Amino acid sequence: MDSQSFRNTLGRFATGITVVTARSADGRPVGMTVNAFTSVSLDPPLVLVCLGDMTSDLDAYTGRGRFNVHMLRDDQAEVSALFATRGADKFGGVAWHADDDGLPSLDACLARLRCRVEAVTDGGDHRIVIGRVEDLWHDDTARPLIYFRGSYATLS
Ligand SMILES: Cc1cc2nc3c(=O)[nH]c(=O)nc-3n(C[C@H](O)[C@H](O)[C@H](O)COP(=O)(O)O)c2cc1C
Repeated sequence: MDSQSFRNTLGRFATGITVVTARSADGRPVGMTVNAFTSVSLDPPLVLVCLGDMTSDLDAYTGRGRFNVHMLRDDQAEVSALFATRGADKFGGVAWHADDDGLPSLDACLARLRCRVEAVTDGGDHRIVIGRVEDLWHDDTARPLIYFRGSYATLS
């Protein structure tokens, strides 16, 4: 099995898209596009995200205590692309604010989960970050942005 067929096969699993945000040790807002997100447990309420070892500010997500997960709406493909671009002025390109914990919170999204880091474990070339959900919000009318076979899609 080569890595391209591995990617191609996993790409058949349609997902939503999230932007995960946190604060770096020196106070900068950081964020990245993540589709490796899933629910884990209802009681306690746990979710997980898988973050690549090469992520610029990995410690900000794994070691700073808290992070936000934003599920994207179907009109936010540009936001997904922006937060997947290393070195981009990510927070200059979206409307956002600091929430009560000082975490970057995108003003527009489909749903938002504020998480406390519960556990971090190795998963090959990624870190599996399990978060306990402490606060949440969702928009009842918005529709999700979908990722399938390496392309963006919407629900018809
Ligand atoms: C649709 C999409 C989904 C992605 N999902 C993940 C993911 O689940 N985990 C991950 O580590 N990177 C993922 N990425 C790549 C990161 O968003 C990208 O490498 C980002 O630039 C990393 O943050 P950095 O710029 O701060 O290093 C995804 C990119 C796209 C376009």
